[in-house]
Amino acid sequence: RIVKRQTACRSDIERLNDSFLAVFASLIPADEEKVKQKQLLTVLEKLVGKEWPEARLYLYGSCANSFGFPKSDIDVCLVMELGDIDKSEVLLKLADILQSDNLQNVQALTRARVPIVKLMDPITSISCDICVNNVLAVVNTKLLHDYAQIDVRLRQLAFIVKHWAKSRGVNETYQGTLSSYAYVLMCIHFLQQRRPAILPCLQAMEVTYVATVDSVECAYFDQVDKLQSFGSRNGEKIGQLVWAFFHYWAYCHDYANDVISVRTGSTLSKRAKDWTRRVGNDRHLICIEDPFEISHDLGRVVDKYSIRVLREEFERAAEIMQYDPNPSVTLFEPY
Ligand code: GTP
Ligand code: MG
Repeated sequence: RIVKRQTACRSDIERLNDSFLAVFASLIPADEEKVKQKQLLTVLEKLVGKEWPEARLYLYGSCANSFGFPKSDIDVCLVMELGDIDKSEVLLKLADILQSDNLQNVQALTRARVPIVKLMDPITSISCDICVNNVLAVVNTKLLHDYAQIDVRLRQLAFIVKHWAKSRGVNETYQGTLSSYAYVLMCIHFLQQRRPAILPCLQAMEVTYVATVDSVECAYFDQVDKLQSFGSRNGEKIGQLVWAFFHYWAYCHDYANDVISVRTGSTLSKRAKDWTRRVGNDRHLICIEDPFEISHDLGRVVDKYSIRVLREEFERAAEIMQYDPNPSVTLFEPY
């Protein structure tokens, strides 16, 4: 009888894995989207190059970090020496240049928190935001991309977590919940914490890549092709990892005292970072250290109302993973 029960259990676990793998497969963008994005980038490079031959364009955010959903907009960063030219001036000039080509809805938003030019390309129907000299975002995009190459379970988990967050309305920074960038860091941290670890801490290893950006030194081990078997001693599959991820954020993380830190591969104390009280608008109710801008808490947008919403959502997800007969459906039900 015991043997029978174990088989039943095993097939349940396999069914759970298969159902989450199917969700993951349904969320990955088709290869032709990458081709279209490159196509648009080439058009932009030509236009920009005529005005500023020294300037470079980089993709960043979800279109370049391996965690992008189908049909998402692309984020582009224009990197150039500004000298004493003002950033707004560059953006207005850029908008001018793009307008005179075939691009549509060109708009310079010079007063936004991150000033950008927005546009839509009628040929590929891709929308695009272009910012200027936001090099840290380009570098953290590379870090996320490099982590994604080490173990496929990161990409699986992060797609499922992002899909859950979007379905449940907790991926809205203007409403006090977390950015996609923050969720991916939570996934990396979580996989660094598994025993045996599924991901290493790249910033604690030998330095093979360095970029100094606005006096921040960004250094880590980026030869990730050498780490292909890093997580192989841990046999956990996606179903179990989704369960454990939500269990961790619902019941195990110490919100009052801990900061999650992908940079150190561990947690730090809020006290050590002096993140114990509200300063200005930063409340530090859930603390996620940016891997390079270490004084930057990605949880700073969370307020005393939205922290409750978030934690209740983590608890709901944990309960579903524990008791629901069909978690890969129920988890993503709209709120
Ligand atoms: P989706 O658009 O939701 O699919 O995800 P995304 O990966 O584009 O994430 P998001 O829009 O949250 O962030 C875009 C990029 O901005 C990130 O990949 C980071 O490189 C960069 N970034 C740097 N600091 C921050 C920050 O404080 N908040 C956010 N949201 N992004 C940051
Ligand atoms: Mg984005």
